Amino acid sequence: MKISSTLGKMINEQINHELQSHYEYLALAAWFETTPYSGFASWMKKQSAEEQEHAMKFFKYLNDRGGAVVLNALAKPKTKYKSVVEAFKYALAQEQKITKLIHKIYAQAEKGSDYETRHFLSWFLQEQVEEEKSALDMIERLDLVGDSPHALLRLDATAGTRQ
Ligand SMILES: [Fe+2]
Ligand SMILES: [Fe+2]
Repeated sequence: MKISSTLGKMINEQINHELQSHYEYLALAAWFETTPYSGFASWMKKQSAEEQEHAMKFFKYLNDRGGAVVLNALAKPKTKYKSVVEAFKYALAQEQKITKLIHKIYAQAEKGSDYETRHFLSWFLQEQVEEEKSALDMIERLDLVGDSPHALLRLDATAGTRQ
């Protein structure tokens, strides 16, 4: 069944939000590349790639349901951070924003009795739990590390092993 125009519009906008996330993480990776923390740079690049995959999942779903993808312009991402922890806090805030947007789409799917979209979105709801958790875990570890360069480099090395 063809998707409703309201829901189709929201999913089209979500493609833009996921691509914006992709871009923000890429800018975070670029900033980390200017620091000694190559592990965090790698972590951000991997996350950036995941966000592009999210955008493509919405892209495919909208097409599969007879909607039309219309790509919009992306905003300039934030390019400078005061500290490693500030960078991860920015990433967490971005994820929290995305979670709220997905909740809004889910609510609309419920309102319109669109069972397929609810089912489709359940993967994203779970994914957001994991993404918020991984950013928060990193912030908690960074708080523990404090001003110790030795501990920070160890955390950076661990972040670099992310698959
Ligand atoms: Fe995402
Ligand atoms: Fe994400």
